[in-house]
Amino acid sequence: MRTSFRVAWLVVCIGFALAPLALAAEPGPAWGKRGMVVTSVGPAAAAGREILGRGGNAVDAAIATAFAAGVAHQYSSGIGGGGFALVYMVETGKIEALDARETAPSSATQSIYLDEQGRAIQGMTRVGPRAVAVPGLVQGLYELHQRHGSLEWRELVKPAIRLCRDGVEVQPAERRMLTLIEPGLANFPETARIQLQNGQVPPLGWRLVQPDLARTLEEIGTRGGGALAFGPIARKIVDATGGALSLDDLGGYAPIWREPVRGTYRGLEIVSMPPPSSGGVLLVEMLNALEPYDVAALGLNSSEMVNLVAGAMKLAFADRAEYLGDPGFSAVPTDYLTSEAYGNELAALLRPPFFLLRAPWNWGKPAIPNARRAALAPPADGGTTQISVVDEQGNAVSLTQTVNTLFGSLITVPGTGIVLNNEMDDFSLPNAANAWGAVGQSANMIQPGKRPLSSMAPTIVLENGQVRYVVGSPMGTFIISAVLQSLLNSVDFKLPPQQAVAMPRFHHQWSPDTLMVEPAHPRDVVEALRSFGHTVEPSRFPMGAVQLIARDPPNDTWLGATDPRRDGAALGY
Ligand code: DON
Repeated sequence: MRTSFRVAWLVVCIGFALAPLALAAEPGPAWGKRGMVVTSVGPAAAAGREILGRGGNAVDAAIATAFAAGVAHQYSSGIGGGGFALVYMVETGKIEALDARETAPSSATQSIYLDEQGRAIQGMTRVGPRAVAVPGLVQGLYELHQRHGSLEWRELVKPAIRLCRDGVEVQPAERRMLTLIEPGLANFPETARIQLQNGQVPPLGWRLVQPDLARTLEEIGTRGGGALAFGPIARKIVDATGGALSLDDLGGYAPIWREPVRGTYRGLEIVSMPPPSSGGVLLVEMLNALEPYDVAALGLNSSEMVNLVAGAMKLAFADRAEYLGDPGFSAVPTDYLTSEAYGNELAALLRPPFFLLRAPWNWGKPAIPNARRAALAPPADGGTTQISVVDEQGNAVSLTQTVNTLFGSLITVPGTGIVLNNEMDDFSLPNAANAWGAVGQSANMIQPGKRPLSSMAPTIVLENGQVRYVVGSPMGTFIISAVLQSLLNSVDFKLPPQQAVAMPRFHHQWSPDTLMVEPAHPRDVVEALRSFGHTVEPSRFPMGAVQLIARDPPNDTWLGATDPRRDGAALGY
């Protein structure tokens, strides 16, 4: 009795002693009365915060963050890539979507990516010159500035130039990425010269100084959006791709303003990226399919909840494979797929008890073999960065930028520091899956001048016409599931922002027919999901890196949460 009392007392004492530690270890959200910048790249968040502090608006801050992110985490985005932005301006009360997606060069026809038997040539869309699509990021950021910026353009590039000159210390995440990619750099001497230290992965704390990239950014600061599209830098890009990209491709590129995709969920207005991204369409489709259900009553990450949500994911991803692509090349039924009527049809397919018994069912869609996926290792992490910003006026930007997989095509344009993307891999080839395991049909087949289908889902959620959430994530097809779960965690489960982004995630993309779960999901949940008929696989990589801003109405404050899956920062103002 006495002993057990002592033990109990000890447990209580240790509990009290540890409690503050446990609380301290769980980071609270950053908060700001006037604004917020959240991104997975710490020094880039600081650049955006600096611009807000100098009176810049959310668009200015997002542009400065975007340039700085492309310097500090070059593996994960940059001026050799592309991106999408959703912009809410209080003055107009409107949300606009900017498409700065890379585009297939005029020389890229599907046949050059296929062998004599009509099979996809291994790796051709992943590595080297034919993997590169015409970059759009610089013109896109310039277009954002032309329409909504308030500070001078050159001021927005300066923090990034400073990071190039002062150098950026190699952090654990970057070192991990370099270790993953180092064996592939043997054929890419310019990338190895800049990123490695005498051919070796540099130690933690090594300072990456990038004088070539600094000069390129100075050109961008002086010449604006056309700096990579015309003149000497354009010529160097053409040479670095052996002519796969032409001067006409670069000079002819233009970003496109598009109408965002819209939906509603439990009284909130969901606004997200339209095609050529699948992100917004699938997000709205899944939310519509889930709205008739009391998701919260099932319990957060319970087997029933995961099964239901995974079902919605499967249905939406099946539509992605069949219907989605660049709307400039074939009709995409966006309005139909995002309609409430269609959402109700999908919801009916998810109704238990039948659904529990038929988890692997394909809803009559033809299965597409994953020939290429089996042959190429899936990327262990990737080349995309999410930037979420709000400012004092209440303007908001959600910007997702990418070079696709780590260091894109692995080509750095000599003398410029520009890492070229491998966005050609986001197209679909016959009987082949892309780096993210995604499959597709004719809507997303390669054609000159076409934009490859993306999963990026920069999203703004409004409540009574005011910004409530700004959110987005990297990680290929996992992006859509990560954004969806952050919203479910916030809206249905009422979790504070930091927990909403930290919770373990799961993902189902219809093909392959596998339910992927982060290892933190409990064993009994995984076993129950298997008993429902799912093939469950623990994921070997983090599922996304969500950057979430939430308005906290009672305090009239912005809360910011950066995903613990990367080394980001949320900086309030
Ligand atoms: O546009 C897309 O969907 C892909 N290129 C995104 C790749 C990605 O998110 C890599 N992230 N870590």
